Amino acid sequence: MTVQANGQGIMLFDHVRAAAEELESRLASGPIVPAAVSPEEIRRHLASHYDFAAPIALNAVGADVERMLRCWQVQVTHPRYFGLFNPSVTPASVVGDTLAAMYNPQLATWRTSPAANEIERHTLGWLTRKFGLPAETVATFTNGGAEANLSAVIVALTRTFPEYGDHGLQRVSGVPTFYVTSQTHHSFYKIAHMTGLGRAAVRTVATDERLKMDLDDLGRRVAEDRKDGCVPFMVVGTAGTTAAGIIDPLPDLARFCESERLWLHVDAAWGGAAILSPRLREHLVGIERADSITCDAHKWFSVPMGAGMFFCRHPASVDAAFHAETCYMPGRSEESTRDPYTTSVQWSRRFIGLKLFVALAERGEQGYADQIDHQARMGDLLRTALEDAGWRIVNETPLPVVCFTRDGLVPSDFLKDLFRRQIAWMSEVRLADGAPVLRACLTSFRTTAADVHSVVRDMSRRTDG
Ligand SMILES: Cc1ncc(COP(=O)(O)O)c(C=O)c1O
Repeated sequence: MTVQANGQGIMLFDHVRAAAEELESRLASGPIVPAAVSPEEIRRHLASHYDFAAPIALNAVGADVERMLRCWQVQVTHPRYFGLFNPSVTPASVVGDTLAAMYNPQLATWRTSPAANEIERHTLGWLTRKFGLPAETVATFTNGGAEANLSAVIVALTRTFPEYGDHGLQRVSGVPTFYVTSQTHHSFYKIAHMTGLGRAAVRTVATDERLKMDLDDLGRRVAEDRKDGCVPFMVVGTAGTTAAGIIDPLPDLARFCESERLWLHVDAAWGGAAILSPRLREHLVGIERADSITCDAHKWFSVPMGAGMFFCRHPASVDAAFHAETCYMPGRSEESTRDPYTTSVQWSRRFIGLKLFVALAERGEQGYADQIDHQARMGDLLRTALEDAGWRIVNETPLPVVCFTRDGLVPSDFLKDLFRRQIAWMSEVRLADGAPVLRACLTSFRTTAADVHSVVRDMSRRTDG
């Protein structure tokens, strides 16, 4: 059977794209930070308009919801939103997400949704090759990076401790431990809690002066833990830390983990997209040796939330971790296929990957690389412009996140003033020495050099906060 484009599909594309583009230009000329609103004000509005007793016309509901979203939200797709990694989204990815909602395919099994399953497999296979992982690698879309990190810990535990699956941690001899730094994403503490490892199983390795994991300290801690009867099983390297964009020494971590027989998980939730950029990918060398990788499409791939990805080079361990058999689900569909409910955390599953597939297909690999390079260049420009204006940069990364300060700065007061004047949205962060500094991350592919210069000019005018 051949698949043919029909008129309806084309109309939907035109409508959604036009709406996404119109919204984008309206948001760009409006405020970034909402006027202060209290929970009571929003609750009063909801209570007085929506008791759900009588139906309301969809147009009226839609208009009111849009008004709420415009008035009562930090506009994360604004070109001067320099915040935590919530991206601007490409119109093509919005079209993809709309199609997924409309057709609502169920991806628990292959047989129910062959097209959707194969589109995801195709997309993930492409990124698997970009990361340099072997052909047998299995990959799944997740709700986000935290779920992908959870998947990594579950699969690593299952591989290292075969008794974990049936009998839990109480049958494991010794106390399992895994290794992060103070810069690693905090989802790992929750994951330790949820998996039954306990938060104390997370060992915080020291960092060097550039905030990268210190290999000597890692070696020391692993050896000490083994001496004390613990069973180290995993090291988490980060490719683009949340606070400062730090990339841990991946080749060294890979060498260490191979020689110590430890699972290497690389959390590239944000930084992973740099693999597409010929200029940036050298910074990710070593990622191809990871046992598993987290990479979020809903960060630097600029698609709507939630779209994480989990890659693992050990298919048998993934099967062992997530296998499931029930009388109400069909058995395995085809020899060459996998049913996602037996290879991932989720059961019923949305067609998460479509937004990335459509966006990639529309823009092409080179288009994506250009978009990522553009954001990296805007990050470089921001760094230089800040330095020229007398600010001190305190992080070192090729990725577009800049942490900066200047003598006497009180970031919280400074930010309040910045928001009041609608100059930009950025945040405050504490790095190694604990002093709060400002953090600006280029999360929008729409940010221009003019935006960067105007923000630096406007914020440098008033730095007495
Ligand atoms: C390095 C890193 N890992 C994991 C996560 C968690 O990802 P998510 O919010 O998609 O669950 C984040 C979120 O910012 C992150 O920066």
